[in-house]
Amino acid sequence: MSVDLYGRDFLKELDHTAAELTHLIDLAAELKAAKRARTEVPLLSGRNIALIFEKTSTRTRCAFEVGAYDQGAHVTYLDPSSSQLGHKESATDTARVLSRMYDAIEFRGAAQATVEELADGADVPVYNGLTAEWHPTQMLADFLTMREHGHGKPVNEIAYCYLGDAQYNMGRSLLVTGAILGADVRIAAPRALWPADEVVAAARERAEQSGARLLLTEDPAQGLRGADFVHTDVWVSMGEPKEVWAERVELLQPYRVDAPAMAATGNPDVRFMHCLPAFHDARTTVGAEIAAATGLEDGLEVSDEVFASPANVAFDQAENRLHTIKALMVATLA
Ligand code: CP
Ligand code: NVA
Repeated sequence: MSVDLYGRDFLKELDHTAAELTHLIDLAAELKAAKRARTEVPLLSGRNIALIFEKTSTRTRCAFEVGAYDQGAHVTYLDPSSSQLGHKESATDTARVLSRMYDAIEFRGAAQATVEELADGADVPVYNGLTAEWHPTQMLADFLTMREHGHGKPVNEIAYCYLGDAQYNMGRSLLVTGAILGADVRIAAPRALWPADEVVAAARERAEQSGARLLLTEDPAQGLRGADFVHTDVWVSMGEPKEVWAERVELLQPYRVDAPAMAATGNPDVRFMHCLPAFHDARTTVGAEIAAATGLEDGLEVSDEVFASPANVAFDQAENRLHTIKALMVATLA
């Protein structure tokens, strides 16, 4: 069955079929190869894309900007202090205005409801560049990276374990996307930090169709055994109050990705993944503050040893943000 994503929004993984997500990942691989070979053909000349960032970003913003430029399109970057969105103008009205000038709108912010409202108000494609609930463009990069480092295994034979805070965007998105694509997905986290029940139910429903194996456990060893990839994310996400750090650090220390956790997979070829940014040392302002408060100098969610090791493919994953976000723009606009 052929896939046509022209004019479609990209708001959350559950809106899409396995064939659609696979089409985007395949297209990203083609665009990556073309860029490397210097044979890329710009298909978005004359297109204009609005990028709204309520929260900070390095990878997602740069991937949209470079992806657009590579394809001949132009972008406008808007942050909350330089637009009326939220304080003086609703998401609906903003979407109606931007639809008159732009061919697509990207939004990163706190609430999924805002990106959904933008999509309802817009008559051009709207892309979710991260909300508290979902990080769907990250998933395209994660699955392209797992395919590249999976020793030729098809996605439905790849096993990955997400360790850490699983209630937020990355834990939810990795559970649901693996369920849609038929992977062997393990979420190892304290019960209080599992994805919400309705997210687990939706993932189970999609797993029945795809043949995915889903495991949610409080036991890191059970989740890690036999995994090809170990994923984690920060223990406190953007927009969460500083006050939750102490509780998270206490709850999540058994779920830290360190050398013994990587060894617990029993897989000498296991690879480490992280959407980034990561707290793997105390060389950032926040990292230093937390290290001073907790005594954890050698990284929080991931040890500096694992981060510095050849098992770490997070920088390939970061590069793949470009190719996959470009594929999304091409598939929906060209
Ligand atoms: N992984 C990711 O979304 O990175 P940024 O916050 O830098 O965009
Ligand atoms: N969970 C993290 C992901 C950052 C890319 C956050 O929302 O801050």
